[in-house]
Formats: sequence, C-alpha cells, structure tokens
Amino acid sequence: MHHFDYLDGVLHAEGVSLEKIAAEVGTPTYVYSSATLERHFTVFSEALKPLNAHVFYAVKANGNLGVLMTLARLGAGADTVSEGEIRKALAAGIPASKIVFSGVGKTPAELAFAVDAGIYQVNVESEGELEALSAIAAAKGKRQAAVLRVNPEVGAGGHAKITTGDAANKFGVSFAEAERLYAKAANMPGVSIMGLATHIGSQVTEFSAYREAFLKIRGVVENLQKQGHKVERLDLGGGVGVPYEMSYPYSHGPDTVHAYADMVKEVTAGLDIELGFEPGRVIAGNAGILLTRVLYTNQRADRTFLVVDAGMNDLVRPAMYEAYHEIWPVKQPAADAPRATYDVVGPICESGDTFTTGRDLPVLKQGDLIVFKTAGAYGATMSSTYNQRPLVPEVLVKGPDYAVTRPRQTYEELIGLDRKPGWF
Ligand code: LLP
Repeated sequence: MHHFDYLDGVLHAEGVSLEKIAAEVGTPTYVYSSATLERHFTVFSEALKPLNAHVFYAVKANGNLGVLMTLARLGAGADTVSEGEIRKALAAGIPASKIVFSGVGKTPAELAFAVDAGIYQVNVESEGELEALSAIAAAKGKRQAAVLRVNPEVGAGGHAKITTGDAANKFGVSFAEAERLYAKAANMPGVSIMGLATHIGSQVTEFSAYREAFLKIRGVVENLQKQGHKVERLDLGGGVGVPYEMSYPYSHGPDTVHAYADMVKEVTAGLDIELGFEPGRVIAGNAGILLTRVLYTNQRADRTFLVVDAGMNDLVRPAMYEAYHEIWPVKQPAADAPRATYDVVGPICESGDTFTTGRDLPVLKQGDLIVFKTAGAYGATMSSTYNQRPLVPEVLVKGPDYAVTRPRQTYEELIGLDRKPGWF
C-alpha cells in the first residue's frame, strides 16, 4: 500500500503533483511519501508489538533526515552500521537508548563513539570485535550492552549479493563458536552480554528460510539458558521483502507483515525474551519513487532505447542486483494508448547503466516524465557522483505540501569536495 496515485490524469505523491515537483525541483529527484512511511512503520510495529518487540528502522535503507524524523515521531528506534548512521539517527531525534549498531567492520573509533553516545546495543559480529569493544568500554569505566550475531547458515534473499545468512557470508559468528564466545563475553569487563542477533538476508519473501534460521537460533538461546547464562534479548534482523512487480491497478495490504509476525510468534513461543527487529525495505521501499525525464529515444533496428536523465549513479539497484523497478508514466495513459517495447537507459558511459530491457510501456516521447517505483529503499542511500554528476535531490511530501529534504548538489559543492595538491 502506498500513496502514489493518479489524480486528474497526473501521478501524485499524496496531494502533490509530480509534474509540479519536476518543474520546481528538477529531475532526476527522489520523492517520498510521509503517509506511506507512517503507514508501513505503524503496520509493522503494531503487528510485532504483542511480542514484546523493539523496532529499529534500518537507516541504511533510507537515511534522509526528513524520513528519519518522520519515523522518530512514531517512536522508531534505529539499526545503524556506521558512525555516520548513528550521528544521523541522533540528529533526527532518535535517542541513543533506541539505537543498535551492527556491521562486521566497526572501527575502534566507531565503537568508542557508540559507547560514549550510550547506545542501546552493539551487535557484535566476531571475537576480535568483542575484545575491542570490551577493552574500549572498560577503559572508559563502562560496560556496553551487546548481543552476539550468529550466522544461521541459512541463505535467503532476493539476490546473491544481499544474502547474509549463508555460511559462506562474512556476517556473524558460527554456531560452533556461539556458545564459547557468549561465555567469554559474560566474563569480560567492558561488555554486558544481553543475547543474540541474526539476520538472514534482504528481500526475503519465502518465510520457510526465516523459520529454519530462527528455530536454529532459538536452540542456541535455550542451550545458553540451560548453561545458566542470562539471554534477555533476541534481535531477529530485517529482510522482509516487498512487492516490486505490480500492475496498476493493484492492491497489497499488510498481509505479509502479519504473516511474518505470526511466524515469529510461532517460533519464539514460550521464550521469555525481548525481541528486536531491523526492518528497512518494508518501511521505505514503496514509500519512494525516482522521478526522471525522457531525454531522447534512440530507434535501432532491433530495439528502442529510452534515454532518461537518471543514471545508475542515482539508482544502482538494476545494474547491481538486476533489480526490477516498475515504471509508470507521470501522465496517466489512456486505457487504449499505443504501447511500445523499450530498453530504458541512463546517461552514464557504460552499458551497465540500463534500468530495464524489453519493457512494454505506453509510447513515450522526449520530455515525458516517468517514475521508477519502489525506489524508497536503497535508492538515494546508494547514489553517487559517478561521471561527476551532482548527488540526486530528495523530496518529502506530506499531504498537500512538500519539502526538499536534500537539495540537488551544486557544481561548486561537487568540485569543492576535492583539494588541489600543494605543488600545483
Ligand atoms: N539488519 C541488518 C543486519 C542488515 O544487514 C540489513 C540489510 C537490514 C537489517 C535491513 O534489511 P531490509 O529489511 O531492508 O531487507 N542494497 C540492497 C539491500 C542490502 C541489504 C543489506 N542489509 C538492495 O538494494 O536490495
């Protein structure tokens, strides 16, 4: 469910016409819907609330300040993976007491920052990190609450590059090591070990993988408890998938989230434990679109290229994961509008800058506006200035209003990032 729909023949984000945003902000630009973000967060947290759950929104999916502030107002915590994300979450008003810090490569400086900030929990991913965290916190006379991330050895996810729970993936400690490291952590001066964490992958739509992984983790929890350890927290990560392919008109409701909550309830039944969740995509994915303009059509013997002004530097998911994004024209096509088959490409100087091939769309011409849907998660956060293109702007809509929550980078700012070597 989202709030991007046609009104008087023009695609709107809530009450704001995307033609208006294109005219005033320019293209390409990301556009997010507050109402969609709010709805997704509320549906997710309401579904999990009966399970003694904390919801830490995964900032990596969309770390725009306006987005984070919207979620902070609803009581969201934050799952972060860098000092930058912790700082951004704090700047958005998410208190340190609701921030968890994950990731395999936290630097000593980042761990020190997290300890000083007083965050809720560090999700420790290796023995070396455990030792570093304990030493850093103890030197400050503190004990940092932590959980140990266990690799469930269950691979799942929409693409090999976003699977994390497979034994071959770099994330977390192995089952074989989990109990030894937990016992070790329990005796360390700078750590208060609170429980376990896991995360099996992203864009997971098949819940059998979750069930398998969560039951395995439950086994570890029970073993540790039998050995007399306190295991009070279980962080089950993120990864709930969203529908990328949908034809208009369509409808999809909160069914997936409820099915997920039911599955979690079943696999954690009888465990007296606080649960944590780190949803990113399911909150932000369908709350954003990338608005872009058709620059040219290039007719070849066997195909027609539609060249748009957004590139793989603005939305890298198709190039990186062969991801599918629905494309909608901003002007609503008539039901009997002529159609054509397009390869939609960006301006970047490599063939990988292809959003889709052989896509059936209404006939489009130079100057037309289109949107890539489901671009609210891992869109702007993964954008770059490749080909010296200014960073793409971000717009947040709320009802009849919108705010440019990240202006388009200027050429002065872009070039000003560099410094001339002293010898010139
Ligand atoms: N927790 C941890 C430890 C994670 O590694 C991730 C995502 C999440 C939570 C949030 O997962 P979500 O609920 O958003 O699926 N760039 C890729 C996705 C990478 C996901 C990385 N980890 C993409 O565009 O599909």
